[in-house]
Parts: sequence; C-alpha cells; structure tokens
Amino acid sequence: MAMNVAIDGPAGAGKSTIAKAVAAKKGYVYVDTGAMYRAMALYFLRAGIASDDEKSISEKVDEIVVSIKYEDGAQHVILNGEDVTGLIRTEEVGNMASATSVYSAVRTKLVALQQELAKTTDVIMDGRDIGTVVLPNADVKVFLTASVECRAKRRFDELKDKGANPDFDQIAKDIEERDYRDSHREISPLKQADDAVLVDSSDMTIDEVVAAIIDLCK
Ligand code: DC
Repeated sequence: MAMNVAIDGPAGAGKSTIAKAVAAKKGYVYVDTGAMYRAMALYFLRAGIASDDEKSISEKVDEIVVSIKYEDGAQHVILNGEDVTGLIRTEEVGNMASATSVYSAVRTKLVALQQELAKTTDVIMDGRDIGTVVLPNADVKVFLTASVECRAKRRFDELKDKGANPDFDQIAKDIEERDYRDSHREISPLKQADDAVLVDSSDMTIDEVVAAIIDLCK
C-alpha cells in the first residue's frame, strides 16, 4: 500500500512550501492539486469563458487533458501537451480556479486523476478536499491554517521581494473572499476532516511545521 498524506487548508497557509519540504525529507512525491485546478482555469480564461457559465465550462472539460510530470523532483503541469507550470501562478488564474472549481464536471475529472496518482505512489497531496473527498483513507491528515493577517503579510512580502508594489488591504480582502468561496461552495467545500490534525502556522516557523508533520508520519 502506498503512503498517503493529505494536507488541506486555505490559500496562503503555506501548504505547498511545507508539503514540498516533507516530500523531500520522506521521499514522497508532492502533488499540488491546486495547480491542476489552475491549469483548467487557464484553459477557460484562454477560451474566453465566463466563470459563471457552468454549461460552457462543463462542455469544455472533455476537451481538456491535464497531467503532471516530474523533472528533478519538481511538479510540472501539462495542459493538452503544453507545460503551463510557469503560467498558472497569477492572481487572475488563482481567482478563476477558485471560481470554476465549484463545478462538478471540473472536480470529478481532477479528483479521479488525483486518486489514480495516490494509488501506486507514496504521496503528500495538498488542496482543499484531500482529507475529506480525494483520499478519505489517507494515513495522515493535516489541516494547515494561519490567520488572514498572517497569510496576507506572507503574500505581501513575497510580492515585494519580486519587486512589486503590493497593497496589503487588497491582498487581505482577496484572501478573505477566496476563503469564503472555497469554504462555502456546495461540492467538496474546504473543511477540516474529522480525523485531521489541526496545525495553525501563524506563530510557527516553516521548520517547526515540517517537523510536526514528519512526526505525524512516523
Ligand atoms: O491552492 P491554490 O491556491 O493553487 O488553488 C487554487 C484554487 O483551486 C483554490 O482557490 C480552490 C481550488 N482548489 C480546489 O477546489 N480543490 C483543491 N483540491 C485544490 C484547489
């Protein structure tokens, strides 16, 4: 049986940083499911479909093939043969992913892909519904969160480091809106699984969170 570790939590809680570090230390494959929703969102954006047009989105899903491959341990997302890894990290794509991940056609397709990956491979998978829906029998489940203020500050610092001139209040507002949408949608909303361990990273360093999760994996 493959080892399955599920990490769920809101945007900006540090899931990917933490999951990558745990994966490297334990030899698991890191699967970033948000990147899959983002790849689909990029397709819808390019096709000029509005995020509230469920009919067109559901029809388009059949035209989309999302897959992932690993190069030097890093996940690459492939959208219909094109490596879109470098194109999906924008706020526009993130917001479109949040808005279009509410539809069952989108979720059904990506959940199947995620479950297939976890069957044969030791994975640490991060997302919103991993412990509740994708891998309900995961060996370890973590719900990683942090205060809105703390998450906004991390995002603010990250953008500043990239030379941008970010607006803190706008970032905090976007995070709140995304949290609301992700946790209030009808299908597979963001929520802590009953058997998940809650980790609040607001006052923890990355190393502390990584150590706590590795401890759970023993
Ligand atoms: O983790 P992220 O910011 O890259 O995810 C982008 C959006 O995709 C997020 O706002 C909600 C959606 N998502 C989801 O619905 N289920 C997942 N397992 C992962 C992401």
